Amino acid sequence: MKMNNIIEISDLTVSFKGEGYLLTAVDNLSLSVIHGETLAIIGESGSGKSVLGLAILRLLPDTAAISGSIIFQTQDILTLSEGMMEKIRGGKIAWIPQNPKLGFNPSMKIWKQVSEPIVLHTDSSWSEAKKQAIRLLRQYSIVPPEKWAEEYPVAYSGGMLQRAMLAMGTSTIPSVLIADEPTKGIDAINKKDVIEMFNTQKERGITQIIITHDLDFASEVADRIAVMYCGQIVELTSVERFFTTPLHPYSVGLVNSLPQRGLSPIPGTSPAMHEKQAGCRFKSRCSLCSRVCSEEIPLFPVGYDNVRCIQYHNRNWAW
Ligand SMILES: Nc1ncnc2c1ncn2[C@@H]1O[C@H](COP(=O)(O)OP(=O)(O)O)[C@@H](O)[C@H]1O
Ligand SMILES: [Mg+2]
Repeated sequence: MKMNNIIEISDLTVSFKGEGYLLTAVDNLSLSVIHGETLAIIGESGSGKSVLGLAILRLLPDTAAISGSIIFQTQDILTLSEGMMEKIRGGKIAWIPQNPKLGFNPSMKIWKQVSEPIVLHTDSSWSEAKKQAIRLLRQYSIVPPEKWAEEYPVAYSGGMLQRAMLAMGTSTIPSVLIADEPTKGIDAINKKDVIEMFNTQKERGITQIIITHDLDFASEVADRIAVMYCGQIVELTSVERFFTTPLHPYSVGLVNSLPQRGLSPIPGTSPAMHEKQAGCRFKSRCSLCSRVCSEEIPLFPVGYDNVRCIQYHNRNWAW
């Protein structure tokens, strides 16, 4: 493990068995997350982003076949006991699920749910934890927090639940926060708050992995971008280089489909995940496709970046 990495994922494969097929949601993926960075994982729906996040938290159903390793600090998450995993979940690695409604127990008051990780993972009593929960709710703009603390989730709007979820997720100051589509269903005004919250967490030194298909949001919060396509990382780069000089044809397509770049959509659709894939997964939609693209393409290093496209074979120029 390199000293400045907090998570090192190697050869991670997650597949689900269906009737007569094997769906590979995450395909031999390797990725290092650097201490203190905010890494955005982007890519269209179905590309394996949530499955990757769930694998790190070991929250996948038993039907998932998982191989490879996920080293967190010094331990392989995939080999830990469930008891050890419970200490990590919520204590060291927080997970903000895609639908905050599902992250809350409808029959428990909000203060109790925000306090619970504090009681479970620190020496605090319930009454100390409640005070801290109220402070956190205020910090996440749930005002007046004393009133809202006594409410049940049903009284909260979607945006408030999202913020309460972040308050809960960061109540024990985790080392890593993984958020799945944190801007989904949030309007432009509240999105500014969400951006600010993630940037505040970054300042608090929390490493963040943000799963999103909202490129504008990624541009506001991320340090690095990992682009996923059909279960693979196809580009790993800095946020600046992603938006100015995207390298992979899929990344180029994503950037060109932004409204400020003329909204030109990527032609075609991604291949069905349950069909066996060979070679470049993007080849059927790529205007640069040639015969070599039917062979398995590794991630090629290009300067500080990595790109899974044959164009960049032997193109490791210094920037
Ligand atoms: N529990 C599951 N059982 C079977 N297939 C699943 C399960 N969870 C996810 N998948 C499949 O894995 C692929 C990746 O899903 P997901 O990670 O949710 O995509 P994303 O988050 O990028 O939209 C999809 O094809 C999805 O249908
Ligand atoms: Mg998802």
